[in-house]
Amino acid sequence: MKRELFDIPEGVIYLDGNSLGAPPKHVAERVQDVVRRQWGERLIRSWSEGWWEAPQRIGDRVGRLLGAAAGQVVVGDSTSVNVFKALMGAVKDTERTEIVCDESTFPTDGYIAQSVASLTGLKIRAARPSSLELTEDTAVVLLNHVDYRTGELQDMRALTEQAHAAGAQVVWDLCHSAGVLPIELDALGVDFAVGCTYKFLNGGPGSPAFIYVPHARQASFENPLSGWNGHREPFGMRPSYEPDPGIVRARVGTPDILSMLALDAALDVWDDVDLAELRERGLALTALFRERVQELTDLEVITPERRGNQISVRCPDARAVMDELIARGVIGDHRPPDVLRFGFAPLYVTDEDAVTAAEVLAEIIR
Ligand SMILES: Cc1ncc(COP(=O)(O)O)c(C=O)c1O
Repeated sequence: MKRELFDIPEGVIYLDGNSLGAPPKHVAERVQDVVRRQWGERLIRSWSEGWWEAPQRIGDRVGRLLGAAAGQVVVGDSTSVNVFKALMGAVKDTERTEIVCDESTFPTDGYIAQSVASLTGLKIRAARPSSLELTEDTAVVLLNHVDYRTGELQDMRALTEQAHAAGAQVVWDLCHSAGVLPIELDALGVDFAVGCTYKFLNGGPGSPAFIYVPHARQASFENPLSGWNGHREPFGMRPSYEPDPGIVRARVGTPDILSMLALDAALDVWDDVDLAELRERGLALTALFRERVQELTDLEVITPERRGNQISVRCPDARAVMDELIARGVIGDHRPPDVLRFGFAPLYVTDEDAVTAAEVLAEIIR
């Protein structure tokens, strides 16, 4: 628990860290340093004083939270763009004919998969993670580790093994699990993973996403967006594209340094976090909230036992109820048509927050 390190207004119970994490207090000062000193005083020199390598350096910091050894994660672009890179990389040169996509995926992943299908001629098949029915036609499976609507956590080990047993590759979207629980990308032999940093990692609105391409796949990974940042010699200004041999080939264009260095600062709070302990706290907080909601209301909790740091509740008039919760200082969100979502970031949400939020919800429902 590191609540004192975060800027959360007095009187607010913040349960939307699964959408936009709260800012660690020191980030504002660090961003000022980036603007005033690194940009204002050092000017162009800052590119060779750390800015250029920032996507790999910060990628390694994120990788530590994902069970990825150094040199396999790079930070940049959005999750949507990284889904595109990963899927195109996975289906390159395949003889197989289908992309299997989590039926309840966050929409952008499905939209991007459609683009990949129409560019490559593969077909999309939507399937539930519990019944993927992979065949020798399946080239790649695109899965969300935690469902954005229900908070359900998928079994990464079993589903990765299932994909590999069918000779398919797997792309995991970790948007709702990075910073929630220990993840073992290297140990599980995951092919590709992507995710955002503005939720539980507190990187700030629109902070850059990440992509994981393991060492074993880097030489054959063809980034469909062959921008100059991924070139083996970006300042050689060569007419033809030759990718960097390593993870740098997953980069595209000039990184958004202000956002990226805000994320870098935010990651300081993660340096000494034990993810196993954090996971215990996340489970305890979500269990407490779920129990109190079930005691005090007859609303249906749709989050299953196997979950991330989120509890979702089915509720008629979800929008109006959430507006009222927010008016009373409990900030969560809702997803149409009838789901209230409450995210529990264990770094700054307390047991008392969980209990009070359930009580306020019950008062409103009554
Ligand atoms: C599972 C998942 N994937 C992707 C995204 C968004 O991707 P982007 O950062 O490209 O907007 C979200 C955003 O909430 C998400 O929950």
